Amino acid sequence: MQKSINNRIVDSNSVVRFYLNGDLIELEGVGARDTLLDYLRLNKSLMGSKEGCGEGDCGACTVLVGRVQSGSLEYKTMNSCICLMPTLNASHIVTVENLRALDGTLHPVQRAMVNSHGSQCGFCTPGIVMSLYGAWLQLIEPTYGNIEKSLQGNLCRCTGYGPIIEAAQSISTYGSLSEDKLLQEQPTMKNNLIDLELRQSSIGTCESSKFIVPKSLQSFSKFFLEHEDATLVAGATDVGLWITKHLATINPVIFIGNLKELKNIEVNKDQINLGSCVTYSQCQPILSKHFPTVNEYFFRIAGDQIRNVGTIGGNIGNASPIGDLAPLFIGLSGTITLRRGEDRRIIAVEDFFVDYNVQNIVKSEFIEKIHIPLNENLFLFTYKISKRRDEDISTVSAIFSFEVLDEKLFNVRLVFGGMGPIPKRAKHTEDILNGNFFDTSIVKLAQLALESDFQPISDMRATKNYRMQVAKNLIQKCQLEYNSNERIKVNRDV
Ligand SMILES: Cc1cc2nc3c(=O)[nH]c(=O)nc-3n(C[C@H](O)[C@H](O)[C@H](O)COP(=O)(O)OP(=O)(O)OC[C@H]3O[C@@H](n4cnc5c(N)ncnc54)[C@H](O)[C@@H]3O)c2cc1C
Ligand code: FES
Ligand code: FES
Repeated sequence: MQKSINNRIVDSNSVVRFYLNGDLIELEGVGARDTLLDYLRLNKSLMGSKEGCGEGDCGACTVLVGRVQSGSLEYKTMNSCICLMPTLNASHIVTVENLRALDGTLHPVQRAMVNSHGSQCGFCTPGIVMSLYGAWLQLIEPTYGNIEKSLQGNLCRCTGYGPIIEAAQSISTYGSLSEDKLLQEQPTMKNNLIDLELRQSSIGTCESSKFIVPKSLQSFSKFFLEHEDATLVAGATDVGLWITKHLATINPVIFIGNLKELKNIEVNKDQINLGSCVTYSQCQPILSKHFPTVNEYFFRIAGDQIRNVGTIGGNIGNASPIGDLAPLFIGLSGTITLRRGEDRRIIAVEDFFVDYNVQNIVKSEFIEKIHIPLNENLFLFTYKISKRRDEDISTVSAIFSFEVLDEKLFNVRLVFGGMGPIPKRAKHTEDILNGNFFDTSIVKLAQLALESDFQPISDMRATKNYRMQVAKNLIQKCQLEYNSNERIKVNRDV
């Protein structure tokens, strides 16, 4: 057994088992609030992963996490600073210390960084190397645009991105994937992880923090009924920050992020059904296939490290007025299955948001699934306005959808985030557009009507006047794009 972060009084059931680089770790005394980054640095003296921001923004702490999903072992980047230890069961954590060529010399990613002079301060470099490694493993074609996307979650404050991008483009000249140690050992590791899944401990108690990592949806739902004040943690990309930034205590905690039943994706001819623990990265290709304009919108959400763990249920469940998925799902006429014990009810996503910090959800109830109807006649436009293009929270987000009959709009939905206490439809403005041609004169009327739909506030992101002006401008932008046919209808292939 390894030592725990602190010496604590523990429940003997509280064992988290995972692989760290080449070693099996069986860890007793894990606390619900313990982070992977602290464990790596304080317990294992693996100092390669750095702490920059401690909130998932800078990428200095990037590691790879391998999990078996749908029968194959996939490695993805994530931020170790907000990764909570009980979520690690049956995973393989790979840190920068594990990176080397088969002969023990520098790995191709490292050689590329050295030879392109991609490292200046050095502090952010291990995280950048791990992000490039993650993209390389996933066979992402090293175009300028793709590399930029892979590095959205890594901040280089000395503006050294030029040499880093050059390094990313040259990795394959220093070695081939077939010689990569991690990939060579993948079949053995996959079996190891499957074995760990079977041995997963379900309940842990550590000092005052009790947590459960349920083995099934059934046992989760039952436990939540019995512990109605428990905090649900899925990807922890919000909850992790409560801990690292606000030093919050959460107790008891239910870790649901890896529950297979909540990670299901089903597509039939009428709708897409997404389990609440489907991550942004898993949701993106499915939705983009049917609604192509969604693809770039997803790339405006955080960086890969967050997209690989943050879940769609968490994004709705946190009820943020500037969460990016709520306007999207409302624009797509989405519904939510809420479950409490064995009882279920289905509500429209827009009805989940009642007022600031007030949601249509009761104690012990949770988001089980999100359903998106497929409508081949839908036109969909997606916009996100933020101070920075990459890895920034929305100042205003807007999703516009409608159908067209005889050149006139109907079933219009104009949904905005950041314009009020909750994500909301602009219903007066929709009334103006419904039944009319989408021309410049109707845009002017719609822009006027928007003032009766929203009274935005001023905050650190923008003034109320800016928000209103930008929201009006987006209606005009949509009309111009619609008429120039730049944006296309949803994909008809199911
Ligand atoms: C660096 C960074 C960048 C970010 N950028 C963006 C961005 O661009 N756009 C954006 O929208 N968000 C962004 N976020 C916020 C965050 O990624 C999302 O809100 C995320 O979707 C939350 O999902 P999670 O699984 O991590 O939730 P968690 O942190 O696990 O949980 C969040 C909340 O939802 C509740 N919850 C979780 N699952 C359920 C469920 N099934 N039923 C009911 N309640 C549930 C939890 O109890 C908690 O209150 C960013 C966060 C970080 C750290
Ligand atoms: S320390 Fe900055 S993302 Fe983790
Ligand atoms: S190399 Fe570290 S900030 Fe640029």
